[in-house]
Amino acid sequence: MTQTGTLFGVSLGPGDPGLITRRAWALLERRDAIWTYPVRSLRKDSYALDIALRAGLALPGQHQSLLFPMTHDAEKLARHWLKAAETVREMLASGQDVLFLVEGDASTYASFCYLARVLRELDPGARIEIVPGVTSFNAACAQLQVPLSEQDDTIAIVPAAYGIAAVEKMLDDFDTLVLMKVKPLLDDLITLLERRGLLAHSRFIEKAGSPVERIVTDVAELKGTKVNYLSLLLVKNPGRERGDMQRGCRKKTSTEIEEEETQE
Ligand SMILES: C[S@@+](CC[C@H](N)C(=O)[O-])C[C@H]1O[C@@H](n2cnc3c(N)ncnc32)[C@H](O)[C@@H]1O
Repeated sequence: MTQTGTLFGVSLGPGDPGLITRRAWALLERRDAIWTYPVRSLRKDSYALDIALRAGLALPGQHQSLLFPMTHDAEKLARHWLKAAETVREMLASGQDVLFLVEGDASTYASFCYLARVLRELDPGARIEIVPGVTSFNAACAQLQVPLSEQDDTIAIVPAAYGIAAVEKMLDDFDTLVLMKVKPLLDDLITLLERRGLLAHSRFIEKAGSPVERIVTDVAELKGTKVNYLSLLLVKNPGRERGDMQRGCRKKTSTEIEEEETQE
């Protein structure tokens, strides 16, 4: 009986081929695995595939795009996730390993999460491995030279689609807000940041790490303009009021230190 293959979620980082991990690279150099990659429509290119090709990796003999449309229609989404999972399942059944190329990190708002979940539903014994990667916001912080967190900062990573009221509420609790998927709400977000005096503490980045990366430090100038879907806002919230907290590490007593030393 043919041994079934393994599905690998291969994270490629946000766009700079230099951020592909050695583990991902080694998998992508294999010629015996099938490459699959997400497209939002059959007329669109795959950003994930583009990262791999820009890195100088060659498409293997077998490769296939999988359609993950951008829609909130739950029934349509379920249909496409099922179709993608069935396609991958057939490939695995032939004994071949399947690489699913992911932009950024495979566990962070990635179509890979849906693919893996539905594949597991179809076949609870399916073999799945995930290669972690650099997220868009980690790369954004590096490019913008803005720390994601310092000391005891709290961080919220939020798809801005939650709406302006939800984002505003988070300003009470978080020192850093990473606002993902900002495209449809950008004007409203800028108005909020202006009202809360946070424009000077906000930065915008589009296609971080790619050759067409765009950084905007004066976020207000984006008002009324169109931005790419692959863009995010990094908002620092320096005025947040903090409650009492136990700062740093509690000082250990000499008895606790001795106890730890005897256990080692
Ligand atoms: C479906 S999520 C994918 C997240 C990705 N898996 C990650 O690890 O960052 C898409 C959102 O991630 C953000 N994003 C992804 N790639 C980006 C990039 N290269 N530059 C800026 N934002 C990016 C944008 O906010 C975009 O709307």
